[in-house]
Formats: sequence, structure tokens, C-alpha cells
Amino acid sequence: MSHLDELINKRRSIRKYKTDVPPEDWINSMIRYAAMAPSPKNSRPVRFIKIVSPESRDNLYRAMANGQKRRLQSAQKSSTPNKLKNRINMYWRFSKFMFDAPVLFAVGAVSPERGSSGKLPRTGINKKVGRGDTDIDITVGLAVKGFLLKGEELGLGTCIMTAPFTFVRDVENILGIEDVKIKCFVTVGFPDEKPDAPERINVADICREI
Ligand SMILES: Cc1cc2nc3c(=O)[nH]c(=O)nc-3n(C[C@H](O)[C@H](O)[C@H](O)COP(=O)(O)O)c2cc1C
Repeated sequence: MSHLDELINKRRSIRKYKTDVPPEDWINSMIRYAAMAPSPKNSRPVRFIKIVSPESRDNLYRAMANGQKRRLQSAQKSSTPNKLKNRINMYWRFSKFMFDAPVLFAVGAVSPERGSSGKLPRTGINKKVGRGDTDIDITVGLAVKGFLLKGEELGLGTCIMTAPFTFVRDVENILGIEDVKIKCFVTVGFPDEKPDAPERINVADICREI
């Protein structure tokens, strides 16, 4: 098996971490790999925002916990309150471990309307022919993949997360971020669990000829 095969096969989403904080230069090398990812016209819009201040973490936690409470309350009014409550609790479970991770990033992209990469969007052409945020979402995904794989090579666990957006929509506002649209969170740390490999689909299922 090649080194790349091994990294890709071994990587799992890690939701339980040891308390040790990974060395900063390891994290920086993960970000360097993220920065190597392709981007439209080499516009390099992806930004990793490390959430370190206790105040920012607290603000985010409180906003998410309030969001969960509100959603549970409105679930009561649904015709299937238990089903909905279970779903909300599941999303909460897949969100709140982020606050126990030694390193937490909000990851997003600067607006394409800013800077030289925004020439086309500014003409309005992209609004007519484009597919909204697709380019940005692809670009963030590619950068995060580089980040996760370098983490795997270093023996660090990671998890990409969007479940928190179930509870908070105005993440940028809560974190005081003005120039980056946040697309996901990413946790990092030394793994304290060994999840089983989830089921995958094979080449014939994922690929076809037309
Ligand atoms: C866009 C995206 C969002 C995700 N959001 C979450 C999340 O909010 N919480 C979580 O625990 N896992 C999240 N995951 C991780 C997936 O659950 C995980 O990748 C999947 O179950 C496959 O497991 P593996 O990563 O170990 O191969 C997310 C993955 C992706 C790609």
C-alpha cells in the first residue's frame, strides 16, 4: 500500500480527543497543506480561523446551547415531537464535542467580491451563469482535505463539522468575523478513540459512463 493509500484508508472522523495540545508547528504544517489546494484562478480564498479566546468559545457555546433549547421547544409543537427531539439531540451530540477538542477552527472563505479574483462576480456575470457558492464550497472542501490528510500523517485526529449550523446561523456575528463566510468547523487533537471504518461505496456505484 502506498503512503497515500494508507493515509486515506486510515483517516477517520475523530470526536474524542486526549487533552494534550498538538504542537503549533504541526498545526501550521496542516494549514500549509490546506494552502496548497487548487482554487479558481488561484484566488486562494480559504481562511482558517483558530478559535482560541475563552470569550469566543463561550459566546459560541452559549449561542449553540440556546439554539438547541429553542429548537427543542419548537419541536414540542410538531406532530412528531419525539422524532424531532431525537434528531435535534443527535445534531447536538455531533456538535458539542467541538468544545472538548484541544484545537478548534472555523473555516471559510473571503468573499469573491473582494480583491482581484472578484472581477467577474463584480460584473454580475457569475450571478447569471454561476451556481452560487459552489466554487467556494469546493475550494474550502479541497483545502480541508489537505488539512485532514496532513493531520493523519502526523498522528492527529480531525473532524469536519457542519452540524453546529443547525443551532447557530450567524456564526460570523457571534465570533466577530467580518471578512470570512464560515462554511464549517474543524476539530484537531490526539485521538482518544478508534472508530470503525464506516461503509463506503465502490467504484461501480460512484462512477458511470454516459
Ligand atoms: C461536510 C461535512 C460535514 C460534517 N459534519 C459533521 C458534524 O457536524 N459532526 C460530526 O460529528 N461529523 C461531521 N462530519 C463527519 C462525517 O460524519 C464523517 O466524515 C462520515 O461519517 C464518514 O466517517 P469518516 O470521516 O470517519 O470516514 C461531516 C463531514 C462532512 C464532509
